[in-house]
Amino acid sequence: MSDVLVLEGPSTLDGEIPIAGAKNAALPCMAAALLTPDPVELENVPPVQDVFTLRELLMDLGVDVQVAGDRWTLQAEQVTSTTVPPELTRRMRASFLTLGPLGVRFGSAEVVYPGGCAIGERPVDLHLAGLEALGFAVDQAAARVRIRARRLRGAVFEFAKVTVTGTEHLMMTAAAIPGTTVLRNCAREPEVVQLAELLRQMGADVEGAGTAQIIIRGTSSLRGTAVRVIPDRIEAGTYAVAAVLTRGRVVLRGARAEHLTALMEHLKGQGAFIEVTAEGVVVDARAVADFRPLRVVTEPYPGFPTDLQAQMMVLMTQALGVSEVVETIFPDRFNHVAELQRMGARIELAKPAARVYGPTPLRGTVVAASDLRASACLVLAGLIARGTTVVTNVYHLDRGYVRMEEKLRQAGVSIRRVNPDPRPSTMDLHG
Ligand code: EPZ
Repeated sequence: MSDVLVLEGPSTLDGEIPIAGAKNAALPCMAAALLTPDPVELENVPPVQDVFTLRELLMDLGVDVQVAGDRWTLQAEQVTSTTVPPELTRRMRASFLTLGPLGVRFGSAEVVYPGGCAIGERPVDLHLAGLEALGFAVDQAAARVRIRARRLRGAVFEFAKVTVTGTEHLMMTAAAIPGTTVLRNCAREPEVVQLAELLRQMGADVEGAGTAQIIIRGTSSLRGTAVRVIPDRIEAGTYAVAAVLTRGRVVLRGARAEHLTALMEHLKGQGAFIEVTAEGVVVDARAVADFRPLRVVTEPYPGFPTDLQAQMMVLMTQALGVSEVVETIFPDRFNHVAELQRMGARIELAKPAARVYGPTPLRGTVVAASDLRASACLVLAGLIARGTTVVTNVYHLDRGYVRMEEKLRQAGVSIRRVNPDPRPSTMDLHG
C-alpha cells in the first residue's frame, strides 16, 4: 500500500518554494554518461524516483555512480552488460535512452520495449528509425529490440512527429559517431538544449538545439565534463498554477520564467502578476477576481506543455463559464477527469478534448492518482476543495516531485503524508 497525502482545504499559498533540478533534463544527461569512459558530473540532480530508477539501471550495467548531495558523478569506464534490465525499463520509459549510447560505445545493445502507461501508448518507432539511419541494424522481436553497430555514419534524419526523448536519443548517439548528422523536425525543449550543452562540453559539435534542426558533428573520443541541471519547469509551473488557484503569492526560487512563457500567458490572462526577480519567479494572484474561462491546446515546446494540462484543468473548474482543453500530444491523458468529477467538477470528455463547466465548488474526498501529472492535479484540487482530500497512490507523485507536501506545508497548506500500511509499497511496474 503506497503512502497517501491528506490535505485540508481550502487554503492559500503564501511563501517561497524552492524549485528542484529538472527530472527530464537529468535523465538524458545520465544516459549520455555511457558515451565516455570518463567521469560525467551532474549538479542539482533532483532526488526523485525516476532518477533513482535510472541510477539503479546504470549500476546494474556496471556504471559507477557516486552521489554527494545533489552532485552525481557517473563513470562508465566499462560495462558488464549491454542488455538493459527489463523490469527497470518497464518501470521508467526514459530507460530506453540508454539503447543508442550502449550500441555506439560497445557495438550492440538490447532493451525491452517501454510499456504503455496511464497516459497512453508510448511508441518508440521514431527512435528506432533514427538509429537505423545512423547505421545500426535494428532487430525487433515481440517484446524487445536489439541493435548492432553495422556501419555507423552521420545521416540526415527527419522525425515524422516531434519527439522529446527521440530527439535526445538520436542527438546523443550521433555525438559519438564521427561524421555530420542533421536532425530535422526536432523537439525544442529546454531539456534538449541542456543535453546539447553537455554533449558540446564532452567534445561533440552540436548546433541548433532549441530549434527544429540540429546539426551534430560527432567524435569517437567524447570526454568527461560537468554541468548543472536546469530547474524543473513543470514543477515550477505546477506551483504557479497552485498560487493562482488559491489566489496566493509564491516565490518560485530558482525557476526560469523563459521556460514557462506559454503557461505564464494564461496566468496573466487570469489577472495574476508575474515578476522575474534575482531569486526566482514571483507569482502574485492576491488581486485576482473571478477566474475567466480559457482554452488550452497542448503543443510541443514552446507551446503549452502537456505536462501542465491536468493542473490547468483544476483552474478551469473554477472559471466563470465553459473552458476547453485539447490534448494533441497524448490524446488519452485524461485519467484525472474522473477523479475531479468525483470532487464535484463538471467535465465533458470527448478525447482528445475536454470541456469544463465552471465554477463548481470542489469537495474533499478520497481520490486515486494514476500518473505523475494527474497526481499533481489532484493535490491542486485538494488545495481549493472544501474539507479533507486524500490522494492515494502517491508513488506516482514521487516519480517527479521532490517533497511536495513539505514545500506546500512551508507555503501555508495543511497537508501531511501518511503511510496507512507500514508494509513497503509495491511499485506499480507499469505506472
Ligand atoms: C517526454 O516524453 C517527457 N518525458 C514527458 O514527460 C512529456 O510529457 C513528453 O516528452 C511530451 O512533452 C521525458 O522527457 C523523460 P514524446 P516522450 O516522444 O519523449 C509520439 C513527465 O510527466 N511518439 O515527445 O516519451 C508519442 O506517442 C513525462 O515527466 C511516436 O509516435 O514523449 C506522443 O504522441 C510524461 N513515436 C508524441 O510523439 C516515437 O518514437 C510526443 O511524445 C516517439 C514518440
